[in-house]
Formats: sequence, C-alpha cells, structure tokens
Amino acid sequence: MEINKIMVIGSGTMGSGIAQVMAETGYQVILNDIKQEFLDKAIEKIAKQLDRDIQKERKTEEDKTAILERFTLSTDYADAKDVQLVIEAATENKTIKLDIFRKLDEITPAETILASNTSSLSVTEIANATKRPDRVIGMHFFNPVPVMKLVEVNRALTTSQETAEAIFDLTKKIGKVGIDVKDSPGFAVNRILIPMINEAIYTVYEGVASAEEVDEAMKLGANHPMGPIALADYIGLDVCLAIMEVLYEGFSDSKYRPCPLLKKYVEAGRLGKKTGQGFYSYK
Ligand code: 3HC
Repeated sequence: MEINKIMVIGSGTMGSGIAQVMAETGYQVILNDIKQEFLDKAIEKIAKQLDRDIQKERKTEEDKTAILERFTLSTDYADAKDVQLVIEAATENKTIKLDIFRKLDEITPAETILASNTSSLSVTEIANATKRPDRVIGMHFFNPVPVMKLVEVNRALTTSQETAEAIFDLTKKIGKVGIDVKDSPGFAVNRILIPMINEAIYTVYEGVASAEEVDEAMKLGANHPMGPIALADYIGLDVCLAIMEVLYEGFSDSKYRPCPLLKKYVEAGRLGKKTGQGFYSYK
C-alpha cells in the first residue's frame, strides 16, 4: 500500500513539526486538533518556519505555497476516512490516546496504519484498543522535529513486519533515520536521556553544582548541544516527570526514582519554557 495522505492528530509542538516534515516531503496532510484556533496557530508557526527557510535561501516562495497547499485543517476524526496513515501526537494521556485509537479504528479503512508518537505509553496497549493490532506502531519523533534526525520505530508486541517496513520506508523518505525498538518503558532514547536529566536535577538538588554549572559541565565536558537542565526546561518538566514515573513503575526499580526537586517544580507549575519559568526564566 502506498502512503500519500496522512492525518496528524494534535497540532502542538510535536504534531505541527511532524505535519511540517510530511508536507515538505510531498505528502497530503490533514492536521487535526480539537479546536480551530489551535490549528490556525500551528499553520501560522509552520508558515513562519518556512519564511525563515526562504530567508536562508533553502526554500522559495513557490515551495512555501506548495507546502501550505498540501494542508487540510480538521476538527473531525471522520476526515481520516481515506488516509493511509494516521500519526497521533495528542496529549500524553492514556485515556485520551486509547479513545482516539478506538475512534480511528472505526473510521479509517482496515489497511490504514495507526501510529502513535507516544514517548512513554505502551504501544502494545494502544494496539490492543483496536481491531487491527498488527497495523498499530509507535513512530516517536524528537523536538525540534524539523531538525532532529531520529525516529524511534517502536513495535508493539503485535505489530506486523509489513507495518514496521512501511514506517521505516516513510522515515527514510522524510530524510530521517529510524531505529528498531521493542515496546518497553521509555523505549530506547527516553530510557537513557530522561534518567540522565533526572540525575542532573539531583546534582542541583544535592547542592553539588548550580543549574548553570551542570549545564556548562555537560556542554563543555560531554559536548552536549544543550545542558541537561536547559533541555529539561525545553522538553517540559511535567513531561520529564511523567516519563520518570513510567520508568519507575514499569521497571519497579529505585534507580528511576524521580528527583523531589523535579516534582516540586511541577507542583509549582514551573514547567519550563512553555510556562515562561522552569529552572531558568524565559520571561
Ligand atoms: N524548528 C525548526 N528549526 C529549528 C528549531 C525549531 N523549533 N529550533 C532550531 N532550529 C534550527 C535553526 O533554524 C538552526 O538551523 P540553521 O543553522 O540551519 O539555520 C538550527 O536548528 C540550530 O538552531 P540554533 O542556531 O537556533 O540553536 P542551536 O544550535 O542551539 O540548536 C537545538 C538548537 C537544535 C535545539 C540544539 O540545541 C539541540 O539539538 N538541542 C537538543 C535537543 C534535544 O535533545 N531534543 C530531544 C529532546 S527529547 C524528545 O524530544 C523526546 C520526547 O519524547 C521527550
């Protein structure tokens, strides 16, 4: 089955980035969200990114027009009736995701692949909410999506080889590199990255070094493009905490214990860049 029309569910940071790379590659994209105003904001953000590319002479005005013309905006899952692939990038909440997959299963043709950008939930459980568990898979992108080269292709226990191959093929077509990962808490990247961030927060919590010093240390001493504390603010402290909790519960291992300081920041609503305040101030 050839993929030419894709629905992306969720027009937040990840969803809009995913939709952008798909449209840039030439796919018809239906961008779906619960409110029209979210969609309008996402398209505005994508148009701005394209303007930056034009300024840098990586794209032309004609490219921008063609890319934007590939978009259809939607607030109704029923618009997925003739797509070959859905990529869900909605809120990282199990009840919401399971509900979306149940609905998509009813609406989309039987051969449509249903992918989730989940960063921590069980893809196997999501697959099991549908009558096509062989055609459900994780397709996990990284922020900022247009820049980050990786896609984790997270296979549910039930995902067929044919489905995985179709997603690897798509990953290559959009200019990204796919890695083959089995469904497991945090998959591969977040299992490694988020405990590293958690440990960086412990280093601050225990007074070993300040946030600025920890970041400087990892930028200059380990060549990270961004220090772990700044990265935590960038990802969202609530997202980091949610992933630590999934690892802690999923492996029943105290080595994944979320740092109390991380919890405190989340309780205070200091979620990082998106709220204007995390370990750093963005006001
Ligand atoms: N959208 C599109 N392009 C962007 C962008 C965005 N949001 N942010 C930056 N860029 C582009 C810039 O245009 C620039 O491109 P150019 O040099 O070709 O013009 C390039 O990226 C570099 O940007 P900057 O010069 O502004 O800044 P930096 O060199 O500091 O790079 C960064 C910014 C790419 C964000 C870099 O700091 C970085 O790689 N940080 C780490 C990001 C990371 O680890 N992400 C993974 C997070 S984990 C995750 O997403 C998983 C989830 O499940 C938690």
